[in-house]
Amino acid sequence: MNRFLDAPNTEPERQEYFIERGRELLNNIETRIGRKLTCCVTTFGCQMNARDSEKLLGILEKMGYVSTESEKADLVIFNTCSVRENADNRVFGRLGILSNYKKKNPHMKIGICGCMMQEEHIVEKINKSYPYVDIMFGTHNIHVLAELVVKNLIEDHKVIDIWEEAEGIVEDLPVDRKYSFKSGINITFGCNNFCSYCIVPYVRGRERSRSPKAIIREIEKLVADGVVEVMLLGQNVNSYGKGLEDEISFPDLLREVDKIEGLKRIRFMTPHPKDLSDDLIDAIAESKHVCHHIHLPLQSGSSDILRKMNRRYDKEKYLGIVDKIRERIPDCAITTDIIVGFPGETEEDFMETMDVVQKVGYDSAFTFQYSKRTGTPAAKMDNQVPQEVVTDRFNRLLKEVQTIARAKTKKLEGQVMPVLCETVNTESEGLMTGRLENNSVVHFKGDETMIGEIFNVRLDEANGFYYMGSIVE
Ligand code: SAH
Ligand code: SF4
Ligand code: F3S
Repeated sequence: MNRFLDAPNTEPERQEYFIERGRELLNNIETRIGRKLTCCVTTFGCQMNARDSEKLLGILEKMGYVSTESEKADLVIFNTCSVRENADNRVFGRLGILSNYKKKNPHMKIGICGCMMQEEHIVEKINKSYPYVDIMFGTHNIHVLAELVVKNLIEDHKVIDIWEEAEGIVEDLPVDRKYSFKSGINITFGCNNFCSYCIVPYVRGRERSRSPKAIIREIEKLVADGVVEVMLLGQNVNSYGKGLEDEISFPDLLREVDKIEGLKRIRFMTPHPKDLSDDLIDAIAESKHVCHHIHLPLQSGSSDILRKMNRRYDKEKYLGIVDKIRERIPDCAITTDIIVGFPGETEEDFMETMDVVQKVGYDSAFTFQYSKRTGTPAAKMDNQVPQEVVTDRFNRLLKEVQTIARAKTKKLEGQVMPVLCETVNTESEGLMTGRLENNSVVHFKGDETMIGEIFNVRLDEANGFYYMGSIVE
């Protein structure tokens, strides 16, 4: 576009240019209407999206928007998830509500990005049924947000920019962190695994690893800024480092991160069981700061279903990994994701899942009903399981998972353990909420000044899935 001939062609310089142009535009509007312009980014989906939203907010604030939690803001962006159908439906419902706000605020702009935008049929649906959306972009170009907003403000017509593929990794853009003391860190983007039920590889593209230098530099900066806990993020962290100039394994990356002075807790999500190595278990066991908590998605306990899911491990291999973890790190919490009702799942298959749940004794588990995703191989499979059967199995599984998790929680009652104080408890005055290394929630007396620090807390009472505790001097 002629108007932006002087915009640099390299990143992040190009976006810095558009952030500056945006700042000027916003200033003009604000002078005209006599108030600040506000923005709101609403996140659906996983930790990847949460991290992306922090980047979106960082860009918008640098342009001069004032961030707010209210979706009546002057710029509202929905960062969407398409992993299950009910995630899609939530977005459509909320978009409907936004149209009412927009009618009342002539300055209001609506943007949508995230995983749903990488699906053609969804983009068509939004164009047709939600024509008042102003800006649409995808998962591969969140870094160009300033450019899209500027173009929309100047041209005042819809801007759609969705990339098929990522063009390298853009570092060094502004970020507004949700928490002062903890942060997600992307280590890989995308996924190459193509589990047969899953949309993620189609909407997030092929797997790419960030350089270890960029990761370490980012964490060091965060620590200097008060962060004490990081969560290393990737769809399959175990394949981190492949294809990099200097290949490095995930366990070795963990060892490097563990050396960073000032960092107190290191978490990671998600390791895929198919390539969880002994070296990773060693790296955790030998580390000073890696939390003794592994989220190890099972999906199904039936080897037959696992094969149809293209998970590339079977029940025995999974249980073998759990045994190794228990042997090497006896106090390690293990949590999981489970899908019920995958096409062709029989009662026997389901009982295999229940069997693994009982054998492992998960500290907690996310349970999902299989959701058919257009474009995935499983969507075309015969023998889709009837809804009433899925519901019945889901309820039985949930009950089992909860019973076991409750008993696990109870086991630590009375012990004194380190708790990272995270937030003010909004339900009871004078209470703070924190987490144990195993990720369990603990409420205890305190005040805001304690946020971001670790305290020794006696777990006085286990209440289902959380504890009431008291600080031990
Ligand atoms: N990369 C991670 C998972 C990311 S998606 C991994 O491999 O474990 C998070 C969870 O959503 C998955 O673990 C799975 O349990 C669930 N999920 C993904 N696709 C689904 C679908 N089509 N229906 C129901 N649950 C699904
Ligand atoms: Fe989806 Fe499988 Fe990739 Fe996880 S590993 S994101 S479940 S395709
Ligand atoms: Fe959803 Fe995309 Fe994450 S589909 S689960 S937001 S990677």
